[in-house]
Amino acid sequence: MMKPRMIRRHSTKAIFLHWFNTACWFFLLGTGAGLIDNPGLQPLGMWWPRLMHTVFGSPETLLVVHEACGFLWAGIIVIYGLVFLRTETLPFLKEVFSFSVRDDVHWLLIKSLVMTLPTRFLEKMGADSTLPDQPFYNVGQKLFAIPAVLGGALIAASGFIMAFSRALNDPGLVQWSILIHFAIVGFVTAGLLVHVFMAAIAKGEGPALRSMFTGWVPEGFARHHNRRWYDAMMRKGFISLFFLLSLLQVCPSAGGQITQSPVSAVNIVSTQISEPAPKPVPGVSAKDAYEKWKDEPDKLIIIDCRTPEEYVYVGHASMAHNIPSQFMEHVWDENKKEYRMRDNPNFVEMVKSKFKLDDAIFVMCRSGGRSTLSARKLTEAGFTNVVNIMDGFEGALVRDPESYFDGKRLRNGWKNSGAPWTYGLKPRLIFRAD
Ligand code: HEM
Repeated sequence: MMKPRMIRRHSTKAIFLHWFNTACWFFLLGTGAGLIDNPGLQPLGMWWPRLMHTVFGSPETLLVVHEACGFLWAGIIVIYGLVFLRTETLPFLKEVFSFSVRDDVHWLLIKSLVMTLPTRFLEKMGADSTLPDQPFYNVGQKLFAIPAVLGGALIAASGFIMAFSRALNDPGLVQWSILIHFAIVGFVTAGLLVHVFMAAIAKGEGPALRSMFTGWVPEGFARHHNRRWYDAMMRKGFISLFFLLSLLQVCPSAGGQITQSPVSAVNIVSTQISEPAPKPVPGVSAKDAYEKWKDEPDKLIIIDCRTPEEYVYVGHASMAHNIPSQFMEHVWDENKKEYRMRDNPNFVEMVKSKFKLDDAIFVMCRSGGRSTLSARKLTEAGFTNVVNIMDGFEGALVRDPESYFDGKRLRNGWKNSGAPWTYGLKPRLIFRAD
């Protein structure tokens, strides 16, 4: 199987800090809970402090170990934050504390609907479940990251006050610190449960979790989940490439990995880039389309915009991605003498979620009608390299009353041109409503 192109998402330093922070958090939570000897406040039950006292020898040692880990945790984070202020800390804070109220509220609403209600129900309601494009972190991640950062600072500060309570000799301040320490740990821990669930258990998040070990995510994942970050990286990549070429005056060769760091990508989000006006959609015959695809099978994308039923039961080009531009309603249209068709409101978004605006895309339907409209929609939406397969998958009708084949689609088209086609279904190519 072809390996997907990968994009750098996290630096090794950031990965180290994340897992160091995680290890400290769980250790501090465990030892901290072991210090709660009031049964009314103990969240785990009294067996936990007893176990912790046994493990660490005595409550006093447990307190020393808890405090030592707290100092280590806060100390390493502060040192890291200062040493890598410009390259890691400030870009991270800028990313986490930047909001686009309209998109973020929209994202939260749609995400909570998609996570709680079945897709079929949403479709029946006519709800558009397309999530707005997100930057490096989506708003859900930011809603955890902000309390984690601010809460972490308050937990550390209140912890210091408690540790030096004797020297401070200010009982009021110490009591406030105890309250703040407990309340914020509880609050952040609640968010942490959601964070761990979303990162390690929720469906489809595997690549993000792996990126917290390897630093890399597949390009398709980045394009789908963090479109604004991805587009910014692409623009940045192209700008750098053109700059490099103008210096070297050589031809580029395609690389397998894109190594722009999120930091530099974040900085160019605001760069204005003028978009070229959409060009008229060019056409190609199915036969020529296949010849072109054979020349560049890894680069040329074929989209079959027919309904999933046509794709499944009539057959399809072996490499075609089924992204329907219309669905068939089982309602009779008396004028047209056919079933009524309903536009897929998410067509463009679905194509965007799978492909880049500058990908070479050929669009095919049954015999060229729907694909003309779909190719135009894509071009108007900013795709710059879209071609319509004019005779489609089934081709034109035979018009010969004498022939047994009269009225059958056998004149041209992908299926009749000798190009490969199949009834077989590949999960990565089919349309899925789930
Ligand atoms: C087993 C525990 C944990 C797992 C599996 C986990 C997983 C992850 C993953 C996969 C990401 C990267 C998301 C992306 O690239 O988009 C991430 C990011 C992050 N993690 Fe964790 N994490 C854990 C514990 C923690 C803890 C204890 C904290 C702090 C209290 C924390 C704070 C963050 C922050 C601030 C980010 C960046 C923003 C975000 O994605 O929410 N994580 N984590």
